[in-house]
Amino acid sequence: MMTNRKTVNRKKVVLIGLPGCGKSTVAKVLADRLGWLWLDSDREIEMSQGMGISEIFERFGEGFFRDLEARCVADLLCEDECAVISLGGGAARHLLKGTNAGQEATGDRLIVYLSRHVEEILRTADLSDRPLLRDNPERLQELFQERHPLYMQVCNVHVCNDGNVDEVVERVYQAIEQGVFCVKVLVINGPNLNLLGSREPGIYGANSYEALVNHIGDYARDHGFCVDVVQSNCEGEIVDAIQNCRDTYDGVVINPGAYTHYSYAIYDALRATDVPAVEVHLSNISDREAFRKISVTAPACVGQISGLGFYSYSAALGYFRDKGGLNL
Ligand code: DQA
Repeated sequence: MMTNRKTVNRKKVVLIGLPGCGKSTVAKVLADRLGWLWLDSDREIEMSQGMGISEIFERFGEGFFRDLEARCVADLLCEDECAVISLGGGAARHLLKGTNAGQEATGDRLIVYLSRHVEEILRTADLSDRPLLRDNPERLQELFQERHPLYMQVCNVHVCNDGNVDEVVERVYQAIEQGVFCVKVLVINGPNLNLLGSREPGIYGANSYEALVNHIGDYARDHGFCVDVVQSNCEGEIVDAIQNCRDTYDGVVINPGAYTHYSYAIYDALRATDVPAVEVHLSNISDREAFRKISVTAPACVGQISGLGFYSYSAALGYFRDKGGLNL
């Protein structure tokens, strides 16, 4: 019976910080570098309401604006595309767990607190359309006292903006490259692998299928990425699992079992997806019967690892961990 735990995987870098700290400037440059979308909560709200933030505050009050903002942040975080999102200065509250947006928190989201000295913001930023500051710039110091603890609480990375945008972008980029996002891999096991332990132990070993799943789970936990493991004796279910991994997983580790040697349907499914796959085998298929030496599915994979027992799986997972699977 196939169990496919689907998790959404559309990566977001979310920039938070005081008004005027440089979030949108940094977000635009970073989005450009990553080839991702740039989205901005204030801009989205202004477009949806057909008026500026200050006017919304004046006409409808802050409470109304915060409701709009909460919905907007939740929507932006669910965008289908990878995106860099700059949030309005007060919007970080919507990232707290228990809020609509906060509840969605997953390993797909990197929250960056961009800090900048209050004096520098007052010296350099245009605060004319910042409703809380326009007529009272000294309020920025109070906002800093109020919000800095919140920013620190919700962020994953704290980057100080000293005015050099390229340097700030580089630091966030490095954080992404170091694997702060949770890489997600789907491990697919084909027919008869559920019988491990009792099935030809001289070839496949004495350890059970459960022990294999534990081995994979331990490796994933120790190396900080997410893995789902599924097993099926049916070709069609394996094809479905491969088709469904798009937009959900960064990589696939597949042991197609005997289908390795003749399933053009699995070959086609692997070819049809843009998620990279590594084929694994417990036994060394090059050193077995003639029919096993041929894999029709391996040419649709980035590579094949065979003969290392359970370590075939951890070696394949290691590939995705080191490659990051992020397609940067
Ligand atoms: C296997 C090798 C296949 O030839 C065989 O049909 C399996 C297991 C392996 O992991 O060694 O079922 O894929």
